[in-house]
Amino acid sequence: MGSGLREIFNSWGRNWRASFAKSWLVVSIGNDCDLRPGCVIEGGKPAPHEDYRGIILGNGVVLYPGVVLTTDSYNTESGIEIGDGTWINRNTLIQGSGGVTVGREVLFGPGVIVWSSGHKYDKPDGPILGQGLTFAPVVIGDGSWIAARAIILPGVTIGKGAVVGAGSVVTRDVPDNVIVAGNPAKEIGRRGAK
Ligand SMILES: CC(C)(COP(=O)(O)OP(=O)(O)OC[C@H]1O[C@@H](n2cnc3c(N)ncnc32)[C@H](O)[C@@H]1OP(=O)(O)O)[C@@H](O)C(=O)NCCC(=O)NCCS
Repeated sequence: MGSGLREIFNSWGRNWRASFAKSWLVVSIGNDCDLRPGCVIEGGKPAPHEDYRGIILGNGVVLYPGVVLTTDSYNTESGIEIGDGTWINRNTLIQGSGGVTVGREVLFGPGVIVWSSGHKYDKPDGPILGQGLTFAPVVIGDGSWIAARAIILPGVTIGKGAVVGAGSVVTRDVPDNVIVAGNPAKEIGRRGAK
């Protein structure tokens, strides 16, 4: 194919991607991000004129194979923001319906789950499916470490520099520099205290 023709096809491709992204997805990727093969960034579809955060990756974010960042636009908090220099290991899943904000230089081990929505279940005489959704934002502070297979539940704030042990289920906020582990996660120490 002559270079002129290739240029025309490339330009159609660029235009198509740009208009598709504008209408269907809101994803912004910073400079020098390392997005490994097999990671998924699923931005959802904003309703017309809806205020929607989308998915925003800062500079130098690393997503390993199997990482899934997924959100929709159920409310104005919906979306996922990942700070500069954060590393997310294999098969970690972050769901942003209720809003997830991850700070700078955070480490995620493999298989972590961060979820920011749930299901209403107050009416016992009927299936939960169809009773509606609940939303609660998750915040993960700068410089923290979320170790392998931890689960961070909706509404939780993890403090700056905090450590969440492998396999923990975090149901409550974690203060800065505190180490938590277990299900439910409890404080097992503080960084620098030993
Ligand atoms: C959280 C962690 C860093 C704590 O290490 P530590 O400060 O050296 O803690 P200790 O080993 O001294 O354990 C202190 C107590 O917490 C318990 N504990 C430690 N990690 C735990 C965990 N993940 N779940 C449940 N309990 C845990 C220990 O059993 C111990 O309890 P005890 O005092 O009753 O004996 C470490 O245990 C951990 O989970 N590392 C994650 C490793 C990992 O996932 N690597 C890959 C991801 S990048």
